[in-house]
Amino acid sequence: MLKDRKIILGVTGGIAAYKAAELVRELFRAGAEVQVIMTRSAQAFVTPLTFQTLSGNQVTTELFNLIEESKIRHVALADKAEALVIAPATANIIGKIAAGIADDMLTTVVMATRAPILLAPAMNVHMWENPICQENIAKLRSRGYHFIDPEAGELACGYEGKGRLAEIPAIVEEIRTLLSPKDFSEEKVLVTAGPTEEPLDPVRFLTNRSSGRMGFALARAARRRGAEVTLISGPNALPVPQKVKYVPVRSADQMREAVLNHLQNASILLMAAAVSDYRPKKTSPEKLKKSLLETVLELELNPDILAEAGKKKDSRIIVGFAAETENLLQNAREKLKKKNLDLIVANDVTLPGAGFEVETNIVKLLDRSGKIEELPLMSKEDLADRLLDRVARLRKS
Ligand code: PMT
Repeated sequence: MLKDRKIILGVTGGIAAYKAAELVRELFRAGAEVQVIMTRSAQAFVTPLTFQTLSGNQVTTELFNLIEESKIRHVALADKAEALVIAPATANIIGKIAAGIADDMLTTVVMATRAPILLAPAMNVHMWENPICQENIAKLRSRGYHFIDPEAGELACGYEGKGRLAEIPAIVEEIRTLLSPKDFSEEKVLVTAGPTEEPLDPVRFLTNRSSGRMGFALARAARRRGAEVTLISGPNALPVPQKVKYVPVRSADQMREAVLNHLQNASILLMAAAVSDYRPKKTSPEKLKKSLLETVLELELNPDILAEAGKKKDSRIIVGFAAETENLLQNAREKLKKKNLDLIVANDVTLPGAGFEVETNIVKLLDRSGKIEELPLMSKEDLADRLLDRVARLRKS
């Protein structure tokens, strides 16, 4: 969703200016067109050449430049931007914007743009806590400016406290949010992700290769689009998405209980979890002896959570996934009907770049009318948005 989006990044003069280089890299990698504006003091910390190399675009440093000024450049930049991000944002730039000062390229673009503006402050803890700085932030917030608060920790000035620039992935996530439509603001979205683990004894369990990536991407995308999101996930190694209610579970039974508890409140259920179909019939409280394993390993069926949710469907939209290695469409169609779904995401997990663990997926979307939408290889992040686009259309139909 960042592909070809036009983002202006303002870099101001603080030690965290070097971290802005990583931000440019991440945005560039995601396909965004990044135009960097540096204040004079930012150039004391990092050279414009660094940002020019990373963004592939000329860096703007001066308000009046005889070569660049064929057009009124600050207005041209302001008009072009889809989002303006200032990272790091010093107490000085926050104060200047709050006071309406426009005396360099960055502050004039801030004044002239209609794009949403995100500030990522970084400064000494006493400067951050200074009531004047906090008043300026409150004033800007009340005028619709967005902030991603600094983190607490060891500061470059030697102090401990709040003032470190927010982590780069968190800033990127906020930029994605800024650029997302808010078409899910009326929705309560329940997402499941990851595998389940079915214990045999204290050290052994049955599980599968799901990493949780697909479900986590769905939770993030729904949150960015304004939904209230609950994410129920089996064991995983992923960071918990911001501003999402997170419910960790282990077994299919625990996932079932969590889904049924939250279903009542949900208007949409997206079931991306790879629930183990079977579990050991008995769980031993002690580690089983190797010699016993063959004789005690009896399996029984787990509850089908999605089918149970399908029976309580009412007006909510329910989307399932089908992870298949053969007869993709036929199996997916059967699951769509049997589990009373609105849509099923058919996932041929044998294709390279699709299914478990990887960052990408290749799927076909099947709806109740029999319509099939084939999607090419794309990141799970992009697929999440494509799937939500489809859910939004279903909601309108
Ligand atoms: O987590 P990743 O590494 O990113 O991988 C993503 C994924 C491959 C796990 C995901 O894209 C996917 O395909 N998820 C569904 C996996 C699966 O369990 O498929 P299934 O065909 O066995 O189940 C069909 C549907 O019923 C699924 O929505 C599943 O959540 C649900 N189900 C299955 C069994 C069960 N006992 N209860 C269920 O609710």
